[in-house]
Formats: sequence, structure tokens, C-alpha cells
Amino acid sequence: MNKQAPVIPFAVLVSGNGTNLQALLDAERSGRLGGARVALVISDRSGAFALERAKQAGKEALLIEPDKTLPKDERRRDLSDRILAAVQKTQAEFIVLAGFLSILQGPILKNYEGRIINIHPSLLPKFGGPGMYGEGVHRAVLEAGEATSGCTVHIVDQGTDTGPILLQRTVPVLPGDTPDSLAERIHHEEHRAIVDGVLELIRRLGLGTQGALPSESGTTGTGAAGQPVKDAEGTEAPIIHQPTITNQRK
Ligand code: GRF
Repeated sequence: MNKQAPVIPFAVLVSGNGTNLQALLDAERSGRLGGARVALVISDRSGAFALERAKQAGKEALLIEPDKTLPKDERRRDLSDRILAAVQKTQAEFIVLAGFLSILQGPILKNYEGRIINIHPSLLPKFGGPGMYGEGVHRAVLEAGEATSGCTVHIVDQGTDTGPILLQRTVPVLPGDTPDSLAERIHHEEHRAIVDGVLELIRRLGLGTQGALPSESGTTGTGAAGQPVKDAEGTEAPIIHQPTITNQRK
């Protein structure tokens, strides 16, 4: 790591296997995140292997489960508040949802407005929204006859999968694809997207990481001089990485 890079602590929320978390831990260890550091990993599910990954990397790992005795809305709010309290203790600058299945609600969205990112396994706004997660996303993509799918890293807002898009990586949908084969192809891209998404967020927040290298060049979101492309309102265009493999689906 570049010695001058300021340390930027961030939290990662997970629910499952944690391969995206692993991509972040690996990127941190190899210096690709500059000064950004995973300060805390929180799972809302007991038995999530992601917690083991965090512990193996020497990271603080917490299990914060939903209180099933509470009604749905209250349960979400209560879980979100307990997560917020834990995250604030680490002075995290931002939060990454890396396969996190609960919906955040309440003050955490205000306190970390513009500072929570999520990775979703489709090209949002397509195939997002309530109930769109896991295999169901890929099944819907196949049923719709899409020629292309991919993953999206976006900022989390009050809606589900609706916030501004930071970047996308696309993959072709191939003949004979099953939800599993498509999921696997996309998962591979997610591991690059999540690292690039963190770097892009740090850049947009002006957190000033020095020595952070983007894991991928070749984007359509930057102009000729490497400057971000902005629309008339000054909103930055998302970075979209296109695959080199051509789509063979008819
Ligand atoms: C990924 O497909 C991610 O897009 C989705 O949940 C999955 C998590 O995978 N939100 P992992 O636990 O990081 O392996």
C-alpha cells in the first residue's frame, strides 16, 4: 500500500457465502483498495460463511439478526438501527452491501446517504426490486429472452434497487444457459465490479485515496481525458464495462 494513502474504514454487510466480501478482502490485502480498509463485517444470518471469511482475515465480524418477534416494518427498522450503531462505532466512511438480503430502513439511510452501495446481479433497472434476488433474477432474465445480463453496483436509496448506478459489468446470455450457469458467469464479474464500485465511490466522495488502482480499464463512463462524463444536471454517467465475448444467442 502507498504509505501516504489515508486510511478509509468501511463496513460490509453480508448474508451468505461472501465471495464478494472475499474479493474486497483480497483487494485490500494486495493494495488495490489504496487506504480503504474493511473495518467491520456484519451478517444478518447465522451460519453465513462470510463471517468465517471475515474472521480468517482478522476482521471484526458481528452477527446482528432480525428480531422475529417484531412486525415486518418494525423488524427492518430495529435491525437497521442496531447495524447503524455498530457501524458508527467503527467510524466507517461508507457501507457496502455484498449479498445482504435484509432491507435497510430509517436513520441509517439518512446518516449514510450516498454512502451505502449494493451489488445486484442484473443490469438494473431491469430485474430489480422487491423479491428480485438470487436465482429468481437469472430465471427472469432467461424467461424474458434477454441477450445480455450482468451486474450493477449502485448507491442505496429509500427504494429497492433504485439508487443511482455507479457501474455495470455485462455478460452475454448464452444458448443453453440455466439460471445457475448464468449466475456463475455474472458472479465472476461481480468480484471485479464490487472492487471497482468501492474505488468509484471513494473517488466520488472525494475521500482522497492515493495509490488506489482501478481493477479494470476500458469504461464508457469516462471521457477522452479520463474525466467523468456528466449529464446536463451534472450527474455522473455510470461506468459500463462491456465484455469482449460476442453474444451468440439468437
Ligand atoms: C451476489 O450474487 C450478489 O449480487 C447478490 O447476492 C450474491 C452474493 O454472493 N446481491 P456472495 O455471498 O458474495 O458470494
